Amino acid sequence: MIKVLFVCLGNICRSPMAQIVFENLVKEYNLEDEFEIDSAGTEGYNEAIGAGIHHGTKDVLKRNGVNFKEHFSRKMRKADYEYYDYIIAMDSENIEDIKSIIGFDKDNKIKRLLDYTKNPRNIKDPWYSGNFDETYEDVKKGCMALFEAIYG
Ligand code: 4NP
Repeated sequence: MIKVLFVCLGNICRSPMAQIVFENLVKEYNLEDEFEIDSAGTEGYNEAIGAGIHHGTKDVLKRNGVNFKEHFSRKMRKADYEYYDYIIAMDSENIEDIKSIIGFDKDNKIKRLLDYTKNPRNIKDPWYSGNFDETYEDVKKGCMALFEAIYG
């Protein structure tokens, strides 16, 4: 079983989008039994209010014909680090915040999603940019590259 955890700040915009896009990719290749995929945030406020996926993320997924189930925000826990094989952050700030939860990345499991592409960079937070289409394009590129890195 390959375990993948996508992580962003709030776990309502970028990381659930990446979780869903990656789940669909894995399904396309009939590999869903090989994977356990989830997402989490480095902040706990959206878990505290029981927040689901942001409407901007839902909207862009629907417009692109991507099926999804609801996901409720949860804060990343220290135990997630041991459990998951790949901890996939959306930006560098996420990586710093993850380290403040888990300590040292002793197994070198933490990367940004776009670090798997030829153009390593952050995925902008659409909570601030408002551009969910741009986020979706980046997430798609990153998920394809991550999948290729695992199955290459
Ligand atoms: P995300 O975006 O990290 O991509 O889920 C955010 C969502 C919520 C907040 C910040 C970023 N917030 O401040 O509630």
